[in-house]
Amino acid sequence: MTEHRATDHPSPDSDAGRTWNLPDEAATAALAARLARVLEEGMVLYLHGPLGAGKTSFARALLGASGVGERIKSPTYSLVEGYAAGARPAWHLDLYRIADPGELEWLGLDALSEPAALVLVEWPERGRGALPPADLQLHLAYADGGRHARLQAVTPRGARLLQRLR
Ligand SMILES: Nc1ncnc2c1ncn2[C@@H]1O[C@H](COP(=O)(O)OP(=O)(O)OP(=O)(O)O)[C@@H](O)[C@H]1O
Ligand SMILES: [Mg+2]
Repeated sequence: MTEHRATDHPSPDSDAGRTWNLPDEAATAALAARLARVLEEGMVLYLHGPLGAGKTSFARALLGASGVGERIKSPTYSLVEGYAAGARPAWHLDLYRIADPGELEWLGLDALSEPAALVLVEWPERGRGALPPADLQLHLAYADGGRHARLQAVTPRGARLLQRLR
């Protein structure tokens, strides 16, 4: 796994990713908006972190900043919600409630593999094998009343996004 990533990312920094301290929800939303600003093509983002870490907060802010005008629901029960983010399709998944990745088959997730799609997945480890691979992985953790964030590139497309992020 590490070796595979190392060939994808010759830069020694890309495996460790970039980190931020997010003291409050506004900081989480601001980071998501910054990522939205550098999105030129599609992206698959896996959102990791314990219950309440801010995965949905981040996804909502990212979708909103990417041009989704409607209210962004939590996909906790529906598993997947679809949106139009400007001209590109956007998908928000929360796989917390599934027991087996096989449960995703009937959802017809082929659309997630479209290169232009913006795909955000909470609890992606529960959908292993049934999801398109991540370009970026966000790791959120509790820290001093706020949150700590680490964004890691997995593909060349993810690495380009991370580099453009200001
Ligand atoms: N940087 C932050 N500092 C403090 N609180 C935050 C921060 N970011 C988000 N929150 C708060 O964390 C709470 C939980 O957020 P959210 O529902 O997004 O978590 P989640 O990771 O999606 O949880 P779940 O695993 O249940 O889906 C919200 O009340 C939100 O306001
Ligand atoms: Mg959530």
